[in-house]
Amino acid sequence: MRSLSQVVALCLALFATVAVAVHTVEVQAQDFVDTVTKQRLMIVGVDYQPGGQAGYKPTENKDPLSNGTVCLRDAALLQRLGVNTIRVYNIDPSLNHDDCASIFNAVGIYMILDVNSPLSGESINRDNPSSSYTSDYLTRIFGIVENFKGYPNTLAFFAANEVMNDVSSAQKNPPYIRAVQRDLKQYIAKHASRTIPVGYSAADVREILQDTWEYLQCEIDGKDDQSRSDFFGLNSYSWCGGDATFQSAGYNTLVDMFGNSTVPVFFSEYGCNKVMPRVFDEVQALYGNQMTSLSGGLVYEYSQEEEDFGLVTINSNSTVSLGVDYDNLQSQYNKLNITLIQSTNATATQLSPPACSSGLITNSGFSTDFNVPAQPDGASDLINNGIKNPTQGKLVDVSETNVPMAVYGSSGVQIQNLAIRKLSNDDTNTPNGDSTSPSGTGSAAKPSSTKGDANGSTPPPAPVALNPDTKGNAKQVSLWYPMLLLVVGLLFGFSDRVPAYLLSL
Ligand SMILES: *[C@@H]1O[C@H](CO)[C@@H](O)[C@H](O)[C@H]1NC(C)=O
Ligand SMILES: *[C@@H]1O[C@H](CO)[C@@H](O)[C@H](O)[C@H]1NC(C)=O
Ligand SMILES: *[C@@H]1O[C@H](CO)[C@@H](O)[C@H](O)[C@H]1NC(C)=O
Ligand SMILES: *[C@@H]1O[C@H](CO)[C@@H](O)[C@H](O)[C@H]1NC(C)=O
Ligand SMILES: *[C@@H]1O[C@H](CO)[C@@H](O)[C@H](O)[C@H]1NC(C)=O
Ligand SMILES: *[C@@H]1O[C@H](CO)[C@@H](O)[C@H](O)[C@H]1NC(C)=O
Repeated sequence: MRSLSQVVALCLALFATVAVAVHTVEVQAQDFVDTVTKQRLMIVGVDYQPGGQAGYKPTENKDPLSNGTVCLRDAALLQRLGVNTIRVYNIDPSLNHDDCASIFNAVGIYMILDVNSPLSGESINRDNPSSSYTSDYLTRIFGIVENFKGYPNTLAFFAANEVMNDVSSAQKNPPYIRAVQRDLKQYIAKHASRTIPVGYSAADVREILQDTWEYLQCEIDGKDDQSRSDFFGLNSYSWCGGDATFQSAGYNTLVDMFGNSTVPVFFSEYGCNKVMPRVFDEVQALYGNQMTSLSGGLVYEYSQEEEDFGLVTINSNSTVSLGVDYDNLQSQYNKLNITLIQSTNATATQLSPPACSSGLITNSGFSTDFNVPAQPDGASDLINNGIKNPTQGKLVDVSETNVPMAVYGSSGVQIQNLAIRKLSNDDTNTPNGDSTSPSGTGSAAKPSSTKGDANGSTPPPAPVALNPDTKGNAKQVSLWYPMLLLVVGLLFGFSDRVPAYLLSL
């Protein structure tokens, strides 16, 4: 039994360091659902890969989530932008991501992680999938699971991105995507304390799009089929410029295609850049009442890289300059109906997946082979016993909130007092009416006014859940019950029954 003073010390430590965490999310048929509130999570997101492919440098111990100061800067800007999710493409499973994951958690932002990288041996090779499906490859992707399974704001894993990008690549690869999903889900079931959804991110190649989704969402052998996708991401660039419409962009086709999807479907990338600056009118369509069967999407992409999609430019002295695209996207998000986005209860949770059969596939070049490849030698040992020496992440206290480097608005004026705003009560970030670029210079382009809804007369939504957690009162109140459990547990020596997350603090 511990002494009273030990107990008191522990309790004080608890008050000081408990991190508020976003609620974990699970998949129920067509929806992502908050496991606590049971409300549907609509993804309001941005793809985040500063440095592009070069942002992942294992030889320099560097990836997009390895530097807490950089994440603090970017989390402050993404929070003001209004997003609740980022997608990160290339991660090193041996690095410590605690600072970055904890910062994004503190501001109410989830992470979707790709398990692959462009380096040789770190993804399925579409030209020769069987040669790349090895136990070394599985060790890498299981390492990503180990690294991120402990963060509550890990929303999902992408097993693969655009492996099928034309008809010929859709012949041999689909069974391997299912194999990788099966292996990841077996590993998660064995080594994580909760389910973490696993899915695929598809290229918008219309000849194979529907087949890809049908192939991945169907069930091969009933309810226990671990090879099916838990969700389907679509990289969609069909809405270009202020003249595009729901019909001209083909969004109506997508709604027809995915209306009865038995897995969540969302845009894993969107934001055509053929017309610049981007005005992002598609945001109103994507979150509007015609598209509620989709679960939102992620804009490509946060930082300016070679492909010219950046919302911001990261300067070589590590300061950031916001682009007009950032302002435009922010004002589109500010027009959204927060009730619809944040408080919509899961709706289509009763759909059951179809049984896999060649009848689901329409393109004669697309695989109808539903025999998922057997696991490579060594895979079952990795899955049963876990990989050797994993780096396992956990939330840490986020004490620094002020962004140390300068950030400039789209007109070049420096933003004053930029800081993250730690959310209380396990909240998720929402658009909040912010206008981050300093005003008064008038150089930022306004969203297209070709449509009546861009009048600017819609009042921005009232700030939701963005009160800085300066007093911490809400936090303490919600902790009384676990505190009581802890004290009783420790006094009576039942410390093994105290939730592990309290003891690990
Ligand atoms: C969904 O399924 C229902 C019932 O089978 C059908 O009436 C409806 O047209 C389908 N909707 C879409 C968008 O496919
Ligand atoms: C950083 O670099 C940017 C772009 O070159 C420049 O405009 C800015 O003045 C620099 N800021 C600092 C603090 O050095
Ligand atoms: C993190 O990034 C900042 C800003 O670029 C840099 O000054 C610092 O050295 C980096 N820290 C590490 C540990 O690399
Ligand atoms: C927002 O969405 C909710 C739920 O669909 C609806 O009841 C409400 O009228 C909408 N508010 C506005 C301002 O459109
Ligand atoms: C949504 O679900 C929550 C939690 O189950 C419930 O309290 C609330 O009444 C539901 N809202 C609607 C509009 O159905
Ligand atoms: C714009 O909003 C103002 C104020 O609500 C309104 O009077 C005006 O008619 C609107 N204009 C258009 C084009 O919708």
